[in-house]
Amino acid sequence: MSAIVFFETANLALIREFYQNKLALDVFKDQGRCLIFELGNMKLGFCSADAAETQGTITFVYASREKVDEAYFRHLDIATTKPEQSDFFKIYHFWARDPEGRNLEFQCFLKAEELEEKQKAIRILNPDPDKPKLLLTRMIPDNAVQKLKRVFEVHANIFDRNLSAAEIKAEIGGKDALLCLLGDSIDKDLLVAADKLQVISNYAVGYNNIDIDYAQSKGIAVCNTPGVLTETTADLAWALIMAAARKVTEAERLVREGRFLGWEPLMLLGQDVHHRTLGILGMGRIGQAVARRALGFGMNVIYHNRKELELDFPAEAVDFETLLRESDFLSLHIPLTSDTRHMIGKEELGMMKDTAILINTARGPIVDETALIDALSRDRLFAAGFDVYEHEPDIPRELLALDNVVLLPHLGSASLATRAAMGELAAANAIAIVTGEEAPARIV
Ligand code: DGY
Repeated sequence: MSAIVFFETANLALIREFYQNKLALDVFKDQGRCLIFELGNMKLGFCSADAAETQGTITFVYASREKVDEAYFRHLDIATTKPEQSDFFKIYHFWARDPEGRNLEFQCFLKAEELEEKQKAIRILNPDPDKPKLLLTRMIPDNAVQKLKRVFEVHANIFDRNLSAAEIKAEIGGKDALLCLLGDSIDKDLLVAADKLQVISNYAVGYNNIDIDYAQSKGIAVCNTPGVLTETTADLAWALIMAAARKVTEAERLVREGRFLGWEPLMLLGQDVHHRTLGILGMGRIGQAVARRALGFGMNVIYHNRKELELDFPAEAVDFETLLRESDFLSLHIPLTSDTRHMIGKEELGMMKDTAILINTARGPIVDETALIDALSRDRLFAAGFDVYEHEPDIPRELLALDNVVLLPHLGSASLATRAAMGELAAANAIAIVTGEEAPARIV
């Protein structure tokens, strides 16, 4: 039996034009104010009405992935996502938006064997059995991919979705090099399967995702991308400082939601940034770049760092407790290690001024998120600006619900130039190790 799914529409002519001419659906019945299209054994009905129904999703079901891909290329101009495999729903699908703003979904059901063959996400970009093999866990800027292809046979995740640990493990055997991301957990379990691996090149400066000791014990070199992202990450820390202090994102939401009714003396009052005290926890490359920018704002800079430093700009070294108590803005720039996990917890937040603003562009688990949510919701802290999260990419609902926090999706190094530079360096690291040269940025 075939079902007819009816939708009301404000513009039947537009629907006719779109579904008949653009999607090439056959008209099953045309009754003037009601038009029915045939789609396999399903029928889509449209009735004219005063107000268009924009709720709901119209689903087009195809027999195979290839047909979904064909549909995608036909509807590139209205597609809102790329085709992707959803293991949860066991479908391969993409989304689009029709001229009346309806959601369209184009999908096929995956067969059991297709689901098992997850490694299909990995394709060889340049088959060449004579070259060493490199596994690339996500697509990175093309300059780097081209550079890698000159030396390696590149096995790349062309679906450009996150790979599970099991998927990476299934691919790592026989590979000479791995170019991976900060979200890929390169632990002992995975490295046991790495029978030929000479180098792990992390596309990030942080490397808390890698079991460095085990890699070293297996003689695998580990490299990262320091330096090239310093200034870009410092810029983003400043974007968070400014946005959190002056309630920029909260204010933008107000404008977009039509709640701006004119200038008000008491509306959205923030904290000044200029001439306040900026505290830096971890005065490494990025910490220093953030601190240098503060001088332009006439700020007083204090910092706490494991090692003593000689700096070429004015900044006072203080103990950890003084840093917490005196900072108007506290910006975190330490690596994540077992010593720094939850280094900012309930007690530390309790020592901070209730007008203070906490900025984290380093690693999420440095801050105890539960304690942070508690401090922010009780106005024990004025605001926070976060680019990283304790259980990334999951963000607690309670944090999302707060107005006094600016939340970004780990964008520290996300400028075109910097991501390209990171690609160059990550590629150079992998190439150097397999060709017996000294790698530009080797950790072990
Ligand atoms: C890094 O490189 O560690 C950053 O977090 C990426 O932006």
